[in-house]
Amino acid sequence: MALHNTSELNAQPTSAVESDVLNINAQTYVFPEVTRDPQAVYRTIHDQLVLDGNSQHNLATFCTTWIETEVKQLMDESADKNMIDKDEYPHTAAIEERCIHMLADLWNSPEAASTMGCSTTGSSEAAMLGGLALKWNWRKRQRAQGKPIDSPNLVMGPVQVCWHKFCRYFDVEIREVPMEGDRLLLTPDEVLKRCDENTIGAVVTLGVTFTLQFEPVHAISMALDKLQAEKGLDIPIHVDGASGAFLAPFLQPDLIWDFRLPRVKSINASGHKFGLAPLGVGWALWREKPDLPEELIFDVNYLGGNMPTFALNFSRPGGEIICQYYNFLRLGKQGYREIQAECSAIGKYLAGKIAALGPFEIVYDGTGGIPGLCWKLKDPASSPFTLYNAADRLRERGWLVPAYSMPPNREDLVIQRILIRHGFTREMAEELLRELERTIEHLQNPLDRPPRFDAASASHNHSGR
Ligand SMILES: Cc1ncc(COP(=O)(O)O)c(C=O)c1O
Repeated sequence: MALHNTSELNAQPTSAVESDVLNINAQTYVFPEVTRDPQAVYRTIHDQLVLDGNSQHNLATFCTTWIETEVKQLMDESADKNMIDKDEYPHTAAIEERCIHMLADLWNSPEAASTMGCSTTGSSEAAMLGGLALKWNWRKRQRAQGKPIDSPNLVMGPVQVCWHKFCRYFDVEIREVPMEGDRLLLTPDEVLKRCDENTIGAVVTLGVTFTLQFEPVHAISMALDKLQAEKGLDIPIHVDGASGAFLAPFLQPDLIWDFRLPRVKSINASGHKFGLAPLGVGWALWREKPDLPEELIFDVNYLGGNMPTFALNFSRPGGEIICQYYNFLRLGKQGYREIQAECSAIGKYLAGKIAALGPFEIVYDGTGGIPGLCWKLKDPASSPFTLYNAADRLRERGWLVPAYSMPPNREDLVIQRILIRHGFTREMAEELLRELERTIEHLQNPLDRPPRFDAASASHNHSGR
């Protein structure tokens, strides 16, 4: 019943609940005085949320938008589980532990049964913890040699904003390798140019946010081995596997990127991205015990028992972790492989089709990185529209396909990106292609098309940076 649209105030309520829906809608910024009927409040909020749009058409996000009924059930059953109350909920705590060891096994840890690791709210928190461990270990090394500890730096390629935050919040100089020409990734040579005795580590991204490509962890690790042999600098690697750590093991088991490389000391991943868990879970794992400095672990006893914690958050929901465990048991390697392979195949298929539309040149065609694709305009200067126009038009039609500029030094390069996640079907791909064709037609028609604009409007910048 549409009692709460623009005409709602004139509508005649037919029950007390409906009448209360009207009142609730009329109130926005004032803290409510009175208690209300739960159904009226529920309906008001439910109907507001419907206007958010369909998350399955959100091709900007890396995160889970489709979950099984059993996952919903488990989320419901664990709504009261606080992950920090490990003494009260020992089985939830045991599930978290099992996930950590399963991931250690998946990422080829030499000590999978005793690996150090923790769950987090996502990759951002996990990245902070990984960065802190690098900083603490570097300080220990420097102190042991009587060297200064006042100017740590961290070397990285085009990273997600969480690494900018880490460097600013924790006072570490950021040495971000800029993109140059066609090089949109970190390379061994560029890492070597920036390492010195104040380098706490190198962050290598498995699945660059901007282009979805994997950076070459193995080659960078070998280059750093050579640096150590020649100059004695021992630079650890942290792999930001936000997406890739849940993809490479299934899609490219022979790709060497994980704890098989002794230089890879820590890895972060988002359970809520290609780990397929509901929103709110990430993972941070360390290769061996000394890689996670003991000083960073706090022991708290006021929840009952003596619990070691390494986290930025304290209270946190347990449901996502329980559902991550469900996914591991339910899907196994076989299930993850089948799901990720299908997503990857759809990405490659779309890349072929979008290349054939005419105006676009594919930058990443879905091969070797995250399932999805990205493209640029073949000839931006003479195109009657920009990719921002295209993103805007698609958004009007219900599809979120972000357009954004690259980071330094390729701010001139604007691309559009699609992520293919579990739940995106071949039928949806066909529907999207038809919409993209109509979009091009509309934007090329001199009578129809809007003015060209060269920057994303604030609400449309969804690169996920
Ligand atoms: C490479 C990379 N690192 C870190 C993050 C942050 O992850 P989260 O959203 O789980 O905090 C993202 C998010 O897209 C990412 O792509």
